[in-house]
Amino acid sequence: MMIDLLVAILMLGGAAMAAETSPEPTFNKDVLPILQKNCQTCHRPGQVAPMSFLDYKSARPWAKAMKVAVTTRKMPPWFADHRYGRFENDRTLVQSDIDTIMKWADAGAPEGDSKDAPPPIQWPVEGWQIQPDIIVDGPNFKVPAKGIVEWTNIVVPGGFTKDTWITSMELLPGDRSVTHHMCVAFIPHTSDVVYNVPTWTDKVRDASGSEIPESRKAITPTGTNTAVQFCYVPGTQFEDYRPFGAGKLVPAGTDIQFRLHYTVTGKEVVDHPRLGFTIAKQTPERHYANFIINSQQDPAVFAIPPNDPNWQSPISEATFEEDVDLVWAMAHMHFRGKDMTYQLTYPDGRTETVLSIQNYDYNWQLGYRFEPIRIPKGTKLTVTAHYDNSANNRANPDPNRTVYWGDQAWEEMMSPFFAVIARKNVDTKKIIKTAVSTRPGA
Ligand code: HEC
Repeated sequence: MMIDLLVAILMLGGAAMAAETSPEPTFNKDVLPILQKNCQTCHRPGQVAPMSFLDYKSARPWAKAMKVAVTTRKMPPWFADHRYGRFENDRTLVQSDIDTIMKWADAGAPEGDSKDAPPPIQWPVEGWQIQPDIIVDGPNFKVPAKGIVEWTNIVVPGGFTKDTWITSMELLPGDRSVTHHMCVAFIPHTSDVVYNVPTWTDKVRDASGSEIPESRKAITPTGTNTAVQFCYVPGTQFEDYRPFGAGKLVPAGTDIQFRLHYTVTGKEVVDHPRLGFTIAKQTPERHYANFIINSQQDPAVFAIPPNDPNWQSPISEATFEEDVDLVWAMAHMHFRGKDMTYQLTYPDGRTETVLSIQNYDYNWQLGYRFEPIRIPKGTKLTVTAHYDNSANNRANPDPNRTVYWGDQAWEEMMSPFFAVIARKNVDTKKIIKTAVSTRPGA
């Protein structure tokens, strides 16, 4: 009996000892799988992150920084309040993964046995996130070292010889350091189209570079489903309709307009953006359609007072006129953007917050891919946003001025983007109805 107990105690002690001395996490066995799943999409050559985590050699010097970045939850970047919505691209680490990275860094970042390493992920080449079937070359655009470059449009031939369903699209900037954002629009071909010639509008600007509000048209319409199909912004560069069995129909002869917006960096560079597509092998069952519902832009209404830490912009509203699935959203604001919240009001009056972006950061305009949300016809989408024009906002270039709607990063925008999946035979121009609203939201 005594002996039995003793043996039992010894065995227990042995088990506890084994747990304490359980081998430290190694790069190959424990850390690399986490990096592959949650980090390499950005941390590899040609992507937004400045260092690669593809292998031990390049990741090892960052072990301590990784520990800090994941325990403070700075990485992976994610700004949606976890209380709302569910997202397919949420890379937020679970606590056990954070612990693994922490213990690995604390143990001196051991490499471990190469036999334990998972096979490398076959990432697309040349910096693409999708592997395009077709690449449309954008223009070569010389970005000067200094000054203001107004939004510039350049049309290039699309090369679509027949009606084509595309199933994903990616915009790859040539030089991310100067690319504030860029969009592409699909334009029906006309005989008088002029290719490869930049066009822009010179704005009337004051000494600080801000557009003089009186020079704007008093009221610009809100809520547009323009020919703009897709935009690159820092943090978002592709959209993929394949998981939904959906596509976008590009009519034969469509030309592609690049809408380029550059920010000078003190060094002249030539940017050469490219647009990549994958093509459907058979006609997709459903449409993918994107929308931007800009808020009211009238300077009488959209004017952020100096030093206001929490100004609420006019809301953006849209009513769905078709049954659709909401699959994606992205907030676009500039330096003073603070938060943006998407709320649905269903036909039965029920309301639901589906996305609430907090601590908005202009450098991180992430796209949020919803687990599809069923939207019955008659549902209303209401988007609210706040701005911090105080000195506490570290991105704020000048808290002492009134800020109006404008193209440049030191001016402001309130541009909620979203995308839906709709029936194949729907007219995508009739999916939403928008209204000019001056209502400052709740
Ligand atoms: C969406 C793209 C993206 C993802 C996903 C991502 N990173 Fe990053 N990471 C960046 C960029 C861009 C930077 C450099 C700019 C910055 O520090 O904000 C960065 C910087 C870092 C730094 C340097 C931090 C510092 O303070 O200097 C570390 C460490 C890091 N990332 C670790 C990770 C780890 C670990 C993961 C996965 C668990 C991850 N990142 C996922 C884009 C990403």
